[in-house]
Amino acid sequence: MQIVETVVEMQKIRRSLKGSVGFVPTMGYLHEGHLALVRRSREANDHTIVSIFVNPTQFGPNEDFDRYPRDYPRDFALLEKEKADFVYLPTPAQMYPEGYNTWIEVNGVTDRLEGAVRPGHFRGVSTVVNKLFNIVQPARAYFGQKDAQQCVVIRKMVVDLNMNLEMIVVPTVREVDGLAMSSRNVYLSPDERQQAPVLNQSLELAKKLWLEGERDSAKIRLAMVDLIKQSPLGKIEYISIADALTLRELEKTESPALISLVVRFGKTRLIDNILLGKP
Ligand code: PAJ
Repeated sequence: MQIVETVVEMQKIRRSLKGSVGFVPTMGYLHEGHLALVRRSREANDHTIVSIFVNPTQFGPNEDFDRYPRDYPRDFALLEKEKADFVYLPTPAQMYPEGYNTWIEVNGVTDRLEGAVRPGHFRGVSTVVNKLFNIVQPARAYFGQKDAQQCVVIRKMVVDLNMNLEMIVVPTVREVDGLAMSSRNVYLSPDERQQAPVLNQSLELAKKLWLEGERDSAKIRLAMVDLIKQSPLGKIEYISIADALTLRELEKTESPALISLVVRFGKTRLIDNILLGKP
């Protein structure tokens, strides 16, 4: 496994690679969720490139950019074990040199959900992913369903800008108690960690009601709220029941629906979602 630190070096290596390249963009502090993407890439491609870059432009001024967890030696060891071929580790100065001034904005689907509460977040995500795609030029790129809106936004960018790659979405990997794996889970206190599976439990309850025939989004949301309230450390930020493709809120929970929610535990925002029906 080779560690690559500059744009020029990464582009040079890319030019030398024959066969297909699979790409897994990450912000590091890797867990089984990230590694599931790496495995999928390894299965389908001749070469796998994983990037680790805590992208400053997707964090708001009051967000956790500075304290976002980082442990590069641990990440390298995990990726070595998964037999990733290259780890691309650009610096902020490489990605955004003095005078940098070009941005990718996907409109519409970024107005809602995470986009509504984190202004500028998706502009940072789509810009950095676009830059990474240009540098790595993958045949396939792998993203996690855990960040459902991110998948919708990137897919829209790929389609709208005629990007010559296939985007693959991998199901959410969970802890045994159902909590979606996330680099941010380390922020949770033991008590918060114990209550955090309530996000997944509320989504499973919503799915059960839906499978039993309930289509009234207000009723499904209320049942989720009631369940989450039984975990007093969790504060609901939003629960959305939306069309899985447009992300428009649905009064009737018609398929394909995306139920997504954010619950705060102290300062930690936990995010999760479930798809009902085929998108
Ligand atoms: P990061 O949060 O590190 O996640 C990298 C990739 O791993 C994303 O596609 C994310 O959806 C996926 N992932 C995270 N947790 C997962 C889980 N439990 N199961 C399955 N997949 C999971 O998302 C980002 O970084 C950044 O926004 C990035 C795309 C790298 C742009 O900076």
